[in-house]
Amino acid sequence: MKGTDYFADALGIKEHEVKDGYAKVSMQIQKTHTNALGFTHGGAIFSLADYAFALACNYGDNVAVAVEVDIKFLRPTVEGDCLTAEATRVSDGKTTGLYHVAVRKDDKLVAFFSGLAFKK
Ligand SMILES: CC(C)(COP(=O)(O)OP(=O)(O)OC[C@H]1O[C@@H](n2cnc3c(N)ncnc32)[C@H](O)[C@@H]1OP(=O)(O)O)[C@@H](O)C(=O)NCCC(=O)NCCS
Repeated sequence: MKGTDYFADALGIKEHEVKDGYAKVSMQIQKTHTNALGFTHGGAIFSLADYAFALACNYGDNVAVAVEVDIKFLRPTVEGDCLTAEATRVSDGKTTGLYHVAVRKDDKLVAFFSGLAFKK
């Protein structure tokens, strides 16, 4: 991906592996990522998954924007947990790409994200 994603930086997201159609990132859950229930905020989990999606579909010179995304929150997490998000391309059309992103704490699935990207 060209340029800097300041929002991902502000959340403390780290990149582990990025290649065409694939990305793995992680985020250590801080107090500022939590909601009033003491669980990780859905918006923080969404942003982690969305960043993995963005890296996978904007690899190298590729430029793509999200047109539709969906997320299911399957398991709560808390401050101190480390979440990983792994994005994989499952369809690669002329104008669109479909990606699945699994957010995990260790081997447990925390959220499942699906994103459709439009290639510019
Ligand atoms: C909604 C929800 C309770 C439904 O769960 P379910 O599909 O019926 O499945 P389960 O009851 O087996 O719960 C799934 C896991 O979440 C854990 N869990 C559920 N409620 C929990 C709670 N209040 N505190 C801690 N862990 C909890 C369960 O222990 C289980 O983990 P395990 O498989 O390691 O034992 C669960 O999907 C969930 O908590 N999702 C996350 C919601 C969330 O954090 N949203 C974003 C911020 S509001």
